[in-house]
Amino acid sequence: MAAILDGENLSAATQSIDPGPVPSSPAASTPLLEADALSVVYKTSNGPITAMQDVSLRLGSSDFVSVVGPSGCGKSTLIKVFSGLLKPTKGSVRLGGTSVDQPRGDVGIVFQQPTLLPWKNVLDNVLVPVRALGMDVPAYKKKAMDLLRLVGLEKYASHYPNELSGGMQQRVGIARGLIHDPSLLLMDEPFSALDTMTRDHMSIELQRIWMATRKSALFITHSIPEAVFLSDRILVMSAHPGTIVREISVNLPRPRTVETLAAPEFNELCAELRALFSQLVQFN
Ligand SMILES: Nc1ncnc2c1ncn2[C@@H]1O[C@H](COP(=O)(O)OP(=O)(O)OP(=O)(O)O)[C@@H](O)[C@H]1O
Ligand SMILES: [Mg+2]
Repeated sequence: MAAILDGENLSAATQSIDPGPVPSSPAASTPLLEADALSVVYKTSNGPITAMQDVSLRLGSSDFVSVVGPSGCGKSTLIKVFSGLLKPTKGSVRLGGTSVDQPRGDVGIVFQQPTLLPWKNVLDNVLVPVRALGMDVPAYKKKAMDLLRLVGLEKYASHYPNELSGGMQQRVGIARGLIHDPSLLLMDEPFSALDTMTRDHMSIELQRIWMATRKSALFITHSIPEAVFLSDRILVMSAHPGTIVREISVNLPRPRTVETLAAPEFNELCAELRALFSQLVQFN
């Protein structure tokens, strides 16, 4: 999987996107990420806040898994724990077989806001993790250009963030999240600041990028259709303090298209999730 993103192979991979079989069940792939019985308690001036409790999950190489749940149930906290930015109060996380107990170079993160540096052009923004990790910047320039091609922005390499639309900026954020060839891409509501039409387009774009790179992806969203459209599996969290209460497999064939949005199977899954959500709200 990692080799696909090597500069030379990437452009070939992106010209003809033939995804081949995509593992759609956890059993089909070796766990890349293993989280066991995670709980996080924040200490605040108003006393402890349990952000999430007893969360366990497995993510295989090439899995696309979404996490949905009510506001405040601990989704962003989960992302912080998986990236090594936050130590869980209880439980353990292993990535690629090693314990996650500090910020990891093998994780890429895409945030809710693109958080691009306004004084750096697009190419240099994509290269930010390479600099931060002390990697060889000139050696990664070609790869950065390949990734910009993958996200459809190769013509904007020397532009500045304020010259791009919100969706374009978020695509730069995705390229930046992938530049150091992480084994896991964490995305925390990356499209929530975008309008509905741009969001639909970005879902299709993200699926294309994911199918070309086959990165293991954990995607946080409040949008049920977005989760169903993109995922192999959807993990549903209960309200604060959150825990995973349900796992739903999405077996819709890929690549999913605008026609998928009208398919009965797609809408049945969305309805199932909506019903589950209304129960969660009712009981919390
Ligand atoms: N740094 C912090 N210090 C104290 N409490 C925090 C901190 N970060 C989050 N919390 C609390 O932990 C809980 C979970 O927060 P988190 O941001 O993980 O939720 P979320 O599911 O991402 O919510 P949203 O969908 O609104 O983004 C909330 O009750 C929040 O108040
Ligand atoms: Mg959040």
